[in-house]
Amino acid sequence: MDDFIAALPKAELHLHIEGTLEPELAFQLADKNQVSLPFATVAEMRAAYDFQDLQSFLDLYYASISVVCTEEDFHDLTLAYLKKADSQNVRHTEIFFDPQSHTARDIPMETVLNGITSALKQGERELGISSRLILCFLRHLSADSAWETLQQALPFREQFIGVGLDSSEVGHPPSKFVKVFEEARRNGLHIVCHAGEEGPPEYITEALDLLHAERIDHGVHCMEDPALVERLAVEQIPLTVCPLSNVRLCVYPDMSQHPIKRMLEAGLRVTVNSDDPPYFGGYVNENFTAVQQALDLSRQELIQLARNSFTSAFLTDAEQQKLL
Ligand code: HPA
Ligand code: ZN
Repeated sequence: MDDFIAALPKAELHLHIEGTLEPELAFQLADKNQVSLPFATVAEMRAAYDFQDLQSFLDLYYASISVVCTEEDFHDLTLAYLKKADSQNVRHTEIFFDPQSHTARDIPMETVLNGITSALKQGERELGISSRLILCFLRHLSADSAWETLQQALPFREQFIGVGLDSSEVGHPPSKFVKVFEEARRNGLHIVCHAGEEGPPEYITEALDLLHAERIDHGVHCMEDPALVERLAVEQIPLTVCPLSNVRLCVYPDMSQHPIKRMLEAGLRVTVNSDDPPYFGGYVNENFTAVQQALDLSRQELIQLARNSFTSAFLTDAEQQKLL
């Protein structure tokens, strides 16, 4: 089965570029930029990837990204991910970035965007991976801060295709960000939203009805609301599920409890993604393998998951056909 999974062409639609920072690169950059990490060794850093919930992960994720400073650093971080994705037969990626975690450190929006974009172009040229970029607002910060971030990014509008919402979910519902998402839509941007990762099904409904989200990131808590499951199935709203993330952040006690198989059986348009791979113990193939083994997914189900990743991408029909 591992060979079958490895050979499947896949798209990855839920991947935070900041969350691809491997400890080895973190130490290299810490040394180069003279920024200190709260760990003495790579092994110590990896050992700290033992989380109780989303917040305990986010605390470490924001602390670690402080070593990524220059345009070249953002380029190197992004290219390292693309090489890994290429090795797993990922043919298309739609990558999140969190500009507020950089502008707060006085790194200009332009530096972040230029570093990531030049790597995406190189990946397309040299590896044949197509990529798009999605700007995420940090939901634990204010709606005003999200608004200001969008204004800072709009001069570089051609470098990203959409906006999303991530960070600490509970207590920061989609309804907090209606105005900035309306402005994003007015600028022709696609809309996605993390919802129903730790938060209740109502946050998924808010993301759809108030933000006009075209895709829901995670969305696993929809399973507590049969009427919502029915709606998501009828409307074929894509759900970008991240199984290893959900288990490592204790959304489920172990993979055998993960609802992804039931979600497929309910007719939901589910995809498999890695979220923040080094932190959660695997890239996209390891996520496929983990759910296949724990839930005994068939080849047909694996093919469906991979197909869903292309049909849920922000690609034209012609672009999808070329990749499928
Ligand atoms: N959830 C919310 N915010 C995040 C995540 C996540 O899984 N990963 C990186 N930022
Ligand atoms: Zn995420």
